[in-house]
Amino acid sequence: MPGVLPEGEPVPADGSLPATATRAVGARGFGVYVHVPFCASRCGYCDFNTYTADELGGGASREGYADTVLAELALAARVLGDAPPPRVDTVFVGGGTPTLLPADDLARILDGIDRAWGLAADAEVTTEANPESVTPESLKTLRAAGYTRISLGMQSAAPGVLAILDRRHRAGRATEAAREARDAGFDHVNLDLIYGTPGESADDFAASLAQVVAAGVDHVSAYALIVEDGTRLAARMRRGELAYPSDDVAADRYLAAEAALGAAGFSWYEVSNWARTPAARCRHNLLYWTGGDWWGLGPGAHSHVGGVRWWNVKHPAAYAKRLAAGESPGLAREVLTPDEAHTEDVMLRLRLASGLPLAVLDDAGRAGARRALADGLLDPAGYAAGRAVLTLRGRLLADAVVRDLLP
Ligand SMILES: C[S@@+](CC[C@H](N)C(=O)[O-])C[C@H]1O[C@@H](n2cnc3c(N)ncnc32)[C@H](O)[C@@H]1O
Ligand code: SF4
Repeated sequence: MPGVLPEGEPVPADGSLPATATRAVGARGFGVYVHVPFCASRCGYCDFNTYTADELGGGASREGYADTVLAELALAARVLGDAPPPRVDTVFVGGGTPTLLPADDLARILDGIDRAWGLAADAEVTTEANPESVTPESLKTLRAAGYTRISLGMQSAAPGVLAILDRRHRAGRATEAAREARDAGFDHVNLDLIYGTPGESADDFAASLAQVVAAGVDHVSAYALIVEDGTRLAARMRRGELAYPSDDVAADRYLAAEAALGAAGFSWYEVSNWARTPAARCRHNLLYWTGGDWWGLGPGAHSHVGGVRWWNVKHPAAYAKRLAAGESPGLAREVLTPDEAHTEDVMLRLRLASGLPLAVLDDAGRAGARRALADGLLDPAGYAAGRAVLTLRGRLLADAVVRDLLP
């Protein structure tokens, strides 16, 4: 989620969309994102739109949350009433900590989505989960309710690193929860890692990778630590209590991830994501990265339908208040111009192993691609086949390559 949003134009109170947007909803796939904005405590590095019980204040509660989301879903179904998506291909419940809600509430939300638009027979249904907030029983309930994929925030295997990140779970709990998820019948399980935390050694990260591989999961996401303004971590770094992350260390860690995961049979399919098989790739994220349509339910959630992008009010109380009044929780929206759509397309598709067709680039972009090829940042075989595909070195410098391909 971008930290600074464009101002956009107001969303009509009934949430209606321009006719141009609803002409072919779901032609490139349709997904539903559900944001669950609750956490037991806030990790020092995290600036996601999430609230502890103390921060929440009045006007919103975890208890009433599933019903509030279902109210937005009813509004969404009305808005797309004349032009509904053919089916829901993917659902992704993210947070926050979705598994702070009772598993029955997560089941009810999924059932509501199925009733509104119909889940595809092979729909991918993911929920994020914190390792300490699932049990073998809750995982079985989620599996029985139709969830097909679990994404667990492990971050690290090293107790010292977990402490610096303010994680609540003990080392080893994430991989244990991953095994419990597989025992509960989940074929698809992801573990998230963060690398480059101050105090993390090369051996710490090697141990994280070894544990992920041994846990038998079929998907791994590994992100360089981002120091977000306004977080406790950023304040500690400003005060000199912790060192700022180093780009060189982050590059070394990325190479270590590629080596260890590659040796264990994982392949990268997006710069920060590796899967054991094509079927294990996260289809919901691929839908975001390839211009699909999705409705984002929940406070602060973003949506994209037919070139119109909008985002909801951020606070759970404001969100609940709008819906209680029968109004759209949309705060603002923008219609993407062709230039904006092109920039997004290049930024997102270049990060994919499938690459970006060179044909979508203008003359300056193609000259940039030739330079990146000569510099060893694009793969010669991909280039010969008409695509810009990052090499391993290119993946380390992906943002710079993107800049070179854009006007
Ligand atoms: C929406 S978060 C939450 C998932 C879940 N609440 C948890 O923490 O286990 C998804 C992932 O984003 C990553 N993440 C969040 N903030 C980050 C940051 N500042 N730098 C790098 N990765 C971050 C973490 O790996 C996290 O697991
Ligand atoms: S548990 Fe996850 S969403 Fe919540 S504060 Fe920590 S990283 Fe952010």
